[in-house]
Amino acid sequence: MSYAYQLKSLEAYTAAYKKSIEDPEGFWAAIASNFYWRKTWDKVLDWNFNDYEVKWFSGAKLNITENCIDRHLATQANKPALIWEPNDPEEHHRVLTYKDLHFKVVQFANVLKNNGVKKGDRVCIYMGMVPELAIAVLACARIGAIHSVVFGGFSAQSIADRLIDANAAFIVTSDGAYRGNKEIPLKSVIDDALIGCPFVKKVIVLTRTRIPVSMIKGRDLWWEDEIKKVETMGNPDCPAEEMDAEDPLFILYTSGSTGKPKGVVHTCGGYMVYTNYTFVNVFQYQPGWVHFCTADIGWITGHSYIVYGPLSAGATTLLFEGVPTWPDAGRFWEVVDKYKVDILYTAPTAIRSLMGFGEGPLHGKKLDSLKVLGTVGEPINEEAWHWYNENVGKGRCPIVDTWWQTETGGCLISNMAGVTPSKPTYATLPMPGVQMLLVDENGKEIEGNNVSGNLCIKFPWPSILRTTYGDHERCKTNYFSTYPGLYFTGDGALRDENGFYRITGRVDDVLNVSGHRIGTAEVENAINMHAGVVESAVVGYPHDIKGQGIYAYVIYQGTHGDESLTRKDILQTVTRIIGPIAKPDKIQFVAGLPKTRSGKIMRRILRKIAEGETTNLGDTSTLLDPSVVEEIMNGKL
Ligand code: PRX
Repeated sequence: MSYAYQLKSLEAYTAAYKKSIEDPEGFWAAIASNFYWRKTWDKVLDWNFNDYEVKWFSGAKLNITENCIDRHLATQANKPALIWEPNDPEEHHRVLTYKDLHFKVVQFANVLKNNGVKKGDRVCIYMGMVPELAIAVLACARIGAIHSVVFGGFSAQSIADRLIDANAAFIVTSDGAYRGNKEIPLKSVIDDALIGCPFVKKVIVLTRTRIPVSMIKGRDLWWEDEIKKVETMGNPDCPAEEMDAEDPLFILYTSGSTGKPKGVVHTCGGYMVYTNYTFVNVFQYQPGWVHFCTADIGWITGHSYIVYGPLSAGATTLLFEGVPTWPDAGRFWEVVDKYKVDILYTAPTAIRSLMGFGEGPLHGKKLDSLKVLGTVGEPINEEAWHWYNENVGKGRCPIVDTWWQTETGGCLISNMAGVTPSKPTYATLPMPGVQMLLVDENGKEIEGNNVSGNLCIKFPWPSILRTTYGDHERCKTNYFSTYPGLYFTGDGALRDENGFYRITGRVDDVLNVSGHRIGTAEVENAINMHAGVVESAVVGYPHDIKGQGIYAYVIYQGTHGDESLTRKDILQTVTRIIGPIAKPDKIQFVAGLPKTRSGKIMRRILRKIAEGETTNLGDTSTLLDPSVVEEIMNGKL
């Protein structure tokens, strides 16, 4: 059976899905034939979920930047590849054509090489949303260096942890970054991070905000000076390094249920194929469209659907430096009109926050270029879905609700815009090649429809994570041991009468705050660093805008004095250890925590209290001291 790359009807989707299950290798080989490979594969797939190992397109050789840039030069060299909208609407925007992007990536790739970066080296990138962030990412890929982008909101301590874990000797950063009315001193944060990282050899610093920075001789270099050096070398080319399909492309750290973030590793071949295939199909991308994904490149959404997916498809990708509410809550809509955006891809938390400003900021905005809307990162509530549909899409743009994870590389469950049916709050159907199932607590498959359970996957797709950097055992334990033979997502879901999936949220100790993943253990560790804190327990609770808020129960030993000051001190500690995104929304001081006789904190009870439950707390008979529960309930914030 033949099927097109871009599926245009429900029947085409159904046929492609069927083929992808019956003959996964044939299916993905046909999809992969749409890319530029220096050498094609010897074998499409090797896999084993019991002793986890997956290889896609073994033996194939490629460079992802040749697919994202070079191959478009013959046909669309002068088409905008990247549009950059600065934080300040008064500042000039920038447009880089494919030719410009090629030039800049090659140039910066030569800068990296000049500074001793080699294939396989890890390069940490810590920048705001400027074109040079995408350029640095692609320049790493060009020479086969492994990029590890760290979101610009993480603290020095978090950066240091990631540098040490990846043993990254090179850093690309900027003096500072603008975000709304804030100026973030990135280089100064890097300086703090580097106190404990003497192995870092070079720090390349882009000029952005001109905030004063200290430059250490021999280690710190200005981006602009380094560019001048390669300019005088007179050789503007930088042939792309030939990579094996299974060579790592990047590491991206993400939170799990333990205290330490994991370095999720994606490889060159499978990741390229899957991000492109999902970009083209989920959004039903048409040549000439402008794609605006509002995520930060510091998260997986930015990697896959600002950089690699759209560029490999030859699209125009829009990179926005600012925030949705500055200078006012009409900023997204202004950007959409200014660049005639066709696809808008954002997070439910942004929609809810903009909803809070009412319809005023939408007045006078045309939004008539929009064709497709998307959401990602967390469950979207019905109200936000309808608001997005009516006020932004004017009822004429399909909304794709894309469910996926850092580990999955690309969307796994989503409707395809205008092609497969949508249903508010449902991610709906799996993408071709994705074999979802629901299991009960014992790992037994729950068959049929109108059921709910834990969401697992029984077969690999091309952009599944390959390992967690430096610790393959951890990868096996985290994803493949809860239910042997299955990849466990950590999410719960229900399947309706049509077989559509609705994600209900995490079932492990991971929070989803404003679409960002944060481990409860990570936040607890940070709180416990505060000198006066004896112990803490962190749970999530429903939050109108953030989706989930962070509720911390803290046993505090120091002299209390002013409780609100102590709270501020604790928030300061969390900001210092992780970053402002992990700051608890509520801190309740308690005398004790509900524990089992074996000393395990019963979070289930704490979660219920934080959610406002007063009567039905479930079984408390196994508690060591049931009286603490009452005390905690009485003190609830
Ligand atoms: O709980 C799911 C939620 O976000 C988690 C993955 O987070 P992260 O790795 O940071 O990646 C976010 C961007 C892909 C998932 O385990 N999640 C993601 N998308 C959705 C979602 N929950 C409901 N609906 C979604 N569309």
